[in-house]
Amino acid sequence: MAFLTYHNQILHAEDVPLPTIAQHFGTPCYVMSQTRITNNWQALDQAFNQQPHSICYSVKANGNLSILRLLNELGSGFDVVSVGELERVIAAGGNPHKVVFSGVGKQPHEIRRALEENIKCLNVESMAELHTINTIAHELGKHAPISIRVNPNIDAKTHPYISTGLSDNKFGIPIDEAENAYLTAQSLENLIIVGIDCHIGSQVRELEPFAETAKQIRLLIASLRAKGITFEHVDLGGGLGINYHHEESNFPSPQDYIGILCDNLNMPELEIIIEPGRSIVGNAGVLITQVIGIKPTFSKTFAIVDAAMNDLIRPALYQGWHDIVTVKQGSPESNAVYDVVGPVCESADFLGHERPLNIEAESLLAICDTGAYTNCMASNYNTRPRAAEVLVHGEQITLIKPRESIEDLLAGEKQCL
Ligand code: LLP
Repeated sequence: MAFLTYHNQILHAEDVPLPTIAQHFGTPCYVMSQTRITNNWQALDQAFNQQPHSICYSVKANGNLSILRLLNELGSGFDVVSVGELERVIAAGGNPHKVVFSGVGKQPHEIRRALEENIKCLNVESMAELHTINTIAHELGKHAPISIRVNPNIDAKTHPYISTGLSDNKFGIPIDEAENAYLTAQSLENLIIVGIDCHIGSQVRELEPFAETAKQIRLLIASLRAKGITFEHVDLGGGLGINYHHEESNFPSPQDYIGILCDNLNMPELEIIIEPGRSIVGNAGVLITQVIGIKPTFSKTFAIVDAAMNDLIRPALYQGWHDIVTVKQGSPESNAVYDVVGPVCESADFLGHERPLNIEAESLLAICDTGAYTNCMASNYNTRPRAAEVLVHGEQITLIKPRESIEDLLAGEKQCL
């Protein structure tokens, strides 16, 4: 649980008791730890040792402006996949020159804005996109810095919905066609080749697919160099998983992961970019929720809580696991087993099945490791306002996003009535 500890049987995020946050800001409420984010980012940074590198935090994992500002202050760059994410980075004070832009469907207006802001690199996902970028760069009288996102056809051994490096995924240009793509890029007047890029998937739990990817990229770089194509950087994407099951061990550390990338690429002079999201923010967050009521049935007992699939869709969408613990530490002997579910009208609306917990109506629960792909994937389904977001640092509590009101939800539509 990392930044979460029990003091006097009450769960604290850093030095803040979670009931204090629930009292001030209501539930459900996302809580992020500044110390944990900082430690996660610095662990990746330091693991590179002498290797030139840039960490481009993947904004999609958690794009809250205060989180982006914190990462910017640490020296981070950013990986964005839409102009909206680029605007987030700019609003948070980030330097566009440290931004890489990935994404399989970049629209002309997004490419234009990225070029106007002089971003570090556009990661190109198709031959057609090469030509579109060239045309827009020509219109702007600029040279667009690009890399080709190659698809190495490597199985990241993760959930199929978040696997991106296989030949039947929509992402990137097949590695066999990369040479042709680079030769085309070289022939286009308004493009400058600066890098090579790939990303094989997310929540990757084994190092072997990363090792294989880095090796393949090394071979590709060698053959492209022989054709006179040179690079300023190689972008190996994101994807390092986090340990959602705290009872399990043997999970690759940031040091192991970076070591594997550097060793297998074996180019100590070249700048390596990584695009981590989950491994920086995932285990730095917790979602506080309150039990609305307990509902026993013939086959099981439900704990109905005030967070739901609209706040945390990972269990429903990817069969994702999140540890669930009580905010008030109870004695395990009094545990009963519950399906923890939300109020949304779908049977897919569950946060955890068969969880042993010592709870009653109004108990507070903490859903662990909710720093990545939670608030940013939240919806207003069932006209549920999205939850408040809080950042803690030591004893300090900062509201970083207010809870939406029902009035917020209706405002736009009311204007159309
Ligand atoms: N770079 C690219 C091009 C990506 O598509 C992604 C994630 C990342 C970097 C960051 O990957 P990370 O280091 O966070 O694994 N919603 C899913 C995860 C979707 C990941 C999409 N792409 C989940 O909740 O598990």
